[in-house]
Amino acid sequence: MEPVNDQDVRPPEDATALEKLAVEVAREAAELALAVRDRVVGAGSVADLETKSSATDVVTAADRECEALVRERLGALRPDDVVLGEEGGADAEPSPGQVRWIVDPIDGTVNYAHGLPWFAVSIGAEADGRPLAGAVVEPVSGRVWSAAAGHGAQLDGRALRASALTRPALAVVATGLNYDPERRRRQAALLARVADGIGDVRRQGCASLDLCSVAAGWVDGYYEHGLHHWDWAAGALIAEEAGAVVRRPGPADADGLGADAVLAAGPGIADGLADLLRAHGVHEI
Ligand code: IPD
Repeated sequence: MEPVNDQDVRPPEDATALEKLAVEVAREAAELALAVRDRVVGAGSVADLETKSSATDVVTAADRECEALVRERLGALRPDDVVLGEEGGADAEPSPGQVRWIVDPIDGTVNYAHGLPWFAVSIGAEADGRPLAGAVVEPVSGRVWSAAAGHGAQLDGRALRASALTRPALAVVATGLNYDPERRRRQAALLARVADGIGDVRRQGCASLDLCSVAAGWVDGYYEHGLHHWDWAAGALIAEEAGAVVRRPGPADADGLGADAVLAAGPGIADGLADLLRAHGVHEI
């Protein structure tokens, strides 16, 4: 058995097998996400629905159906694993060494509800809190992003490499805003200050794809506070395996970025971006 890294005792083929499985299941759920939308709104866009609650209903129906499909497939293929999903929560706490799947059936639900094509099914796998594999599948374009720990990240089979930019002042940085209005206001205020020190800003509306965008070098960096585990589980590994520096949420805030911060950036600007956030009052977030 060849260790993936110092702490990892799992054989490398485990991670790639999990990656393959995540891709297979996410692809199937991606097809279902489109089918649910077509079923509910026909040829129109969900944005044609008149009320916010009807749009929410579509999202809820799609989230539920897609997650149920993912849980069913994973349960059949890997009955000894546990699942944490946006809709169904955690079915059980993982025991040591047990694989836990982390599922966002539709990440980017606001985009989904408005007919914007930038949303995805995100499935990550971890054991003992360590990421092993991840897949992010875009239903509309069919693009498949994936990674296995120690084996790199790929987009439709092509290896991904994060940005090599070294000047934060030129960086295109993606971020997101929380659903909670108070937090959103503080995040917007921080962003306004940070925007002065970088090249440009993107708010794309799908955290998993923001992280994939970092993996591809489409954006140089990304940060967001207050994400759920399922928003970043797969994407963070994809960014990391593409060579990005990745900071995941954790119980401590030793680096002063906020305990629930996710940050991913090309290695040449990651420190600079973190410095900018700290200098502009990230602790107020
Ligand atoms: C949301 C998206 C969005 C991010 C929010 C997330 P959801 O996930 O990823 O980009 O800014 O913080 O909650 O609700 O569409 O699964």
